[in-house]
Amino acid sequence: MPISIIIGAQWGDEGKGRVVDWLASAADVVARYAGGDNAGHTVALDGEVYKLHLLPSGVLHEQVVSVMGNGMVINPVNLVREIKALRAMGIEISPQNLIISSRAHIITPAHIALDAAKESALGDAKIGTTLRGIGPAYLDKCGRAGIRTGDMLLDVEVFAERLISGIAVANDSLQKQGIEPLDARAAAESYLKAADFLRGFIQDASIFLHQALKAGARVVCEGAQGTLLDIDHGSYPFVTSSSPTAGGALTGLGMGPMQVDRVLGVAKAFSTRVGGGPMPTELEGELADRLRGSGENFWDEFGTTTGRPRRCGWLDGVLLRYACMVNGFSELMLTKLDILSGFEQLKLATAYEIDGLRSEHPPVTNEELERATAIYETMSGWSEDISGCRRFAQLPAAAQNYVQRVAELCEVPINTVSVGPERSQLVQR
Ligand code: IMP
Repeated sequence: MPISIIIGAQWGDEGKGRVVDWLASAADVVARYAGGDNAGHTVALDGEVYKLHLLPSGVLHEQVVSVMGNGMVINPVNLVREIKALRAMGIEISPQNLIISSRAHIITPAHIALDAAKESALGDAKIGTTLRGIGPAYLDKCGRAGIRTGDMLLDVEVFAERLISGIAVANDSLQKQGIEPLDARAAAESYLKAADFLRGFIQDASIFLHQALKAGARVVCEGAQGTLLDIDHGSYPFVTSSSPTAGGALTGLGMGPMQVDRVLGVAKAFSTRVGGGPMPTELEGELADRLRGSGENFWDEFGTTTGRPRRCGWLDGVLLRYACMVNGFSELMLTKLDILSGFEQLKLATAYEIDGLRSEHPPVTNEELERATAIYETMSGWSEDISGCRRFAQLPAAAQNYVQRVAELCEVPINTVSVGPERSQLVQR
């Protein structure tokens, strides 16, 4: 397996972090390729729970080199904080096991302020972003006005000047909206400190990856967010500003496709979404509460980054099939199957009805998706606690049927399901 790509097949929060953590034990490199600290990956390991926002999940494995790719947008101050927090938990992080691409873009305080200002201007139509400055940072990248991590290797004065002039431009637009301008000098000072800390980690990550692959390294590409949040293939405009799909892994790391031999999609056994936008299988009331959990456990459906309760619903087979198509998954993994234990009946959306017409595929516009009514197949549930199952044959027949039906619907094999948060709670065929 020279290159495996791990992709979220829904709206993020599918449990990719724990899948990457699992695959990382047989990998040499784990590389993140999109997004920034809007992501929240939770990994449970030996009784400790690690919450990662920017660092690849590979940092929890001694033999792995972690890479933060050029497709990411990185808040250097938050990255330093995350590295220090993990070091305090006994995790070794140094330039020997962490490489930051010099081509990744930097999130500045201006981006964060602009994200909040835009959301507030949108009012009820807001995207519901994580307010981490993601959209404005990618906007500057595409508008060819961004600052890159490699700029932290420049003369300190030059780097500071770029930050200050970026903030001055943002201040103009903030003031027009009646928002307090940012203190550019204070922001530059904290970024210069972060730059000092991070300088040794920064290099051209594509060259590193190329050389590692030539030397026979096995690379796991760690997706953040999910296919339905993709800027092109997601439910636009209620999406993030990057490409969390399989194609994004290649552009976000600077690698060609010829050595990819596995594209693993990760989907939850039901649907969740945070933020605004249509969700045809959304549930309300008791059923949604059961799927969400109380919030007492870290695996309950509350955002790792924002703490927001996630919207919950039945598995949307129409969107999942679409995600399989745009990514070309070689296999799909279903997480949190244990959460469905105890439901007498389960529903699985297999098509939509939109304006009286049946459709097997999601519509392109948000307005049509808003009007889509899910057409469900009803399946028998199971009452057994499945958290102790380790082989597929140990799952109750109804659970096996459910998994099998999802695989048929998506035309992609499902070889692994998870039945709890621990590393050991994976069931393989
Ligand atoms: P942004 O990426 O902060 O701009 O947010 C855009 C949309 O993507 C919002 O609906 C967020 O809730 C959603 N989003 C961004 N990152 C994640 C994630 O890691 N998990 C789930 N949703 C996310």
